Amino acid sequence: MNPPGHRPGDDRQAPPGAPSAGTLQLRIARRWAEAEGICGLELVAADACALPAFTAGAHIDLHLPGGLMRPYSLCSDPADTSRWQLAVLREPASRGGSAAVHELLAEGQPITVGLPRNLFALQPGARHSLLLAGGIGITPLLAMAEHLHRQGGSFTLHVAARSRARLAFAARLAAAPYAAQVRLHLDDGAAAQRLDLPALLAAPQPGVQVYLCGPRGFIDAALAAARAAGWPEAQLHLERFGPAAPAPDAAAALAADGSFSLRLTRSGRVVPVAAGQTAVQALAAAGVSVMTSCEQGVCGTCLTPVVAGVPEHRDQYLTPEEQAANDQFLPCCSRALSAELTLDL
Ligand code: FES
Repeated sequence: MNPPGHRPGDDRQAPPGAPSAGTLQLRIARRWAEAEGICGLELVAADACALPAFTAGAHIDLHLPGGLMRPYSLCSDPADTSRWQLAVLREPASRGGSAAVHELLAEGQPITVGLPRNLFALQPGARHSLLLAGGIGITPLLAMAEHLHRQGGSFTLHVAARSRARLAFAARLAAAPYAAQVRLHLDDGAAAQRLDLPALLAAPQPGVQVYLCGPRGFIDAALAAARAAGWPEAQLHLERFGPAAPAPDAAAALAADGSFSLRLTRSGRVVPVAAGQTAVQALAAAGVSVMTSCEQGVCGTCLTPVVAGVPEHRDQYLTPEEQAANDQFLPCCSRALSAELTLDL
């Protein structure tokens, strides 16, 4: 899981699209078709200076045309500060982010990005790292593979894709100095090479850290296999792509929700959250800014301490144990079971 107790950075952002402290103005040096439905982007500093260092598993927020901001994992070698690379899948149910990347970003354009933040970091001291990627989930795991190879760390990278055409970074993986540690699994390939998660995770292994990244179905299947086999939660680390529920249902579900109130300890104000409104939207309407990125309960950026009341957790970021503690919630998607939540805001 993502690190327990992780708090988002303190770099409260300016309105999307506006350069501010905590953001960089970069240039899209290259854009290419990486695989079917996936485009790659290479970003460099406008003045050709070195970029800030990042650690494997980190992501950056892209400030997209139209005011959207979306997080994307860095998939280039963390040791290379001359450029950053990303790969973006065009989501069929895009809420605008991936469509904006595919339709509106072009080579040579300037782009504002947030500084790298890592909510999916490699754990130190692992005997072996098992990297399991589903589809576009390969991106942070590529950076992890590069880092582990450079450090001489033991690892295996499993990459599952629906077909060869949809497999991102096939050429890079084949040419990588760690190619022997890569296992490819194609859904439309021979049965023997398909990813068998229950077999791969059949028994917990001391000192082995498991990193999962991909769409909801892939993560759920891998987690179910690992938990059924008795893997300790502390050895499971994940980063999801996509919302917990299909996007078309989200608006209707939100509209059907009840209202509740947020009491803010620092100002003593009470902010009502109406049906059809998220807590983040209600806070913004009251002039209280909460930093967001995915707005889907996936990234953890909006994590907020809860002082009193019972949240209704709808995120995929907190572990079941963290949700049960009810001392923090993700206001971009979660609501309240109690009439009021008191927040440390
Ligand atoms: Fe990503 Fe709330 S903004 S979890």
